[in-house]
Amino acid sequence: EMKGNTIIVVFGASGDLAKKKTFPALFRLFRQGFLPNDVKIVGYARTKMDKAEFHSRATSYIKKSDDDAGLAESIDKFKDTLTYVDGDYDTGAAFDVLNAHLLEIEAHYTSEDKNRLFYFALPPNVFVTVAKNIKEHVYASPGVNRIIVEKPFGKDLDSARELLSSLKQYWSEEETYRIDHYLGKEMVKNILVLRFANVAFASCWDKSHISNVQITFKEPFGTEGRGGYFDSFGIIRDVLQNHLLQVLSILTMERPVSFSAEDIRDEKVKVLRCIPPIAQEDTLLGQYVGADGKPGYLDDDTVPRGSVCPTFAATTLWINNPRWEGVPFILKAGKGIMNGRYFCPKSKYGIQFKDVTQGIFQDIARNELVIRIQPSEAVYLKMNAKTPGLQTHAMVTEMDLTYNRRFAEAKIPEAYEALILDALQGDHSNFVRHDELDVAWKIFTPILHWIDGKNGTPPHPSSYPYGLRGPQDLDKFIQKYGYHRTTAN
Ligand code: BG6
Repeated sequence: EMKGNTIIVVFGASGDLAKKKTFPALFRLFRQGFLPNDVKIVGYARTKMDKAEFHSRATSYIKKSDDDAGLAESIDKFKDTLTYVDGDYDTGAAFDVLNAHLLEIEAHYTSEDKNRLFYFALPPNVFVTVAKNIKEHVYASPGVNRIIVEKPFGKDLDSARELLSSLKQYWSEEETYRIDHYLGKEMVKNILVLRFANVAFASCWDKSHISNVQITFKEPFGTEGRGGYFDSFGIIRDVLQNHLLQVLSILTMERPVSFSAEDIRDEKVKVLRCIPPIAQEDTLLGQYVGADGKPGYLDDDTVPRGSVCPTFAATTLWINNPRWEGVPFILKAGKGIMNGRYFCPKSKYGIQFKDVTQGIFQDIARNELVIRIQPSEAVYLKMNAKTPGLQTHAMVTEMDLTYNRRFAEAKIPEAYEALILDALQGDHSNFVRHDELDVAWKIFTPILHWIDGKNGTPPHPSSYPYGLRGPQDLDKFIQKYGYHRTTAN
């Protein structure tokens, strides 16, 4: 664990990820006293700016919802921990300057040990250079050094392997924390407890009881200016291959021997290895077009003309092991999708159980256990109950555990908050191990190559109007796998 004498260096400190996620998370941890005593946070980026400007950037995304009497004072204290160094990413000399700054900070520390946590809020084309330069110019010894990196980890199996092995030259697996921020989300962390601490769920968690599983991600906005990045990746690399597959692996793995990081990740890798590459016929692709005054994907200036990049994808995966054989796992994600009243990203996973045996009941709805990851964390079970009254009719209703009602006082941490704390504490459970990434790419690479047109003409995604649920064929696609819609009264 990194205790005392810790410096967190945020690379790419002037960028979007740092501003929107990294600094607000650091602030919340700082405020709740979770950062090591005497922590210092150093921003590093190419942009030249003075301390005041850096301070205002680093605190610009602090949530107004954190507002209370002490907020301004906490922000001031937080600013006292923040300094900034500008420099490029590819020259050793620039990193020497950074190192000199860190040594100066450390000169005030009493103990010999130095802990340095390096956070890469960077575009992937500089990952390796920065990893190398830190190792050669800024690595503390004696001390604990760690890097936090985040996707994209390559674009397919080969490029991911190449990237990982380049990084491995400088940083060991032990020192590397690969973020998939879905693993930091409360309702994803909750899966372990739901599944393994409840015999009611544990005992029916298999192909004999479960008909199908859906893991869904929807965003009511498009790429808006981020089209350059997005277009060379597409929705599958952006969301399915990492975030949704992570949810799937925890939902389906066997019970780990313990809660240790390696035991958990061993089980995840094992189940992922049972998944064959996704078949083309198990895939539905879409791209949003302008509607209701909202621009289509191709209207975004940052998107190349005529791009056939999918902004929506539904894929069905199969797990070839005795527990799950024959159960379809439908992963779907899309941008420019709106349904329901919230104008914010939505994600959830639903486990739909099989029909009850016919006999005394006909046309009875299926049970479905739904876990809403966001917004408004919830676990609810769609179930049948007797309609209250004198007659005996069954109706669909819900057993509902909505967090903001049941745990009104609880502050649910942001994903990045949870993950940065884990990295400081040396806990890898919620980070992606190298072999996990490898097998995730094996599952998705063939379908990605097909979509990229590597083996011929790329498939044309079906268009869907911005703001709808996705391509028109979506319902048919899902029904093909035996999904039945259940609506509670
Ligand atoms: C990122 C994707 O990993 O996750 C984005 O690159 C997406 O496209 C984002 O918008 C969603 O994360 P969250 O947790 O902020 O909804």
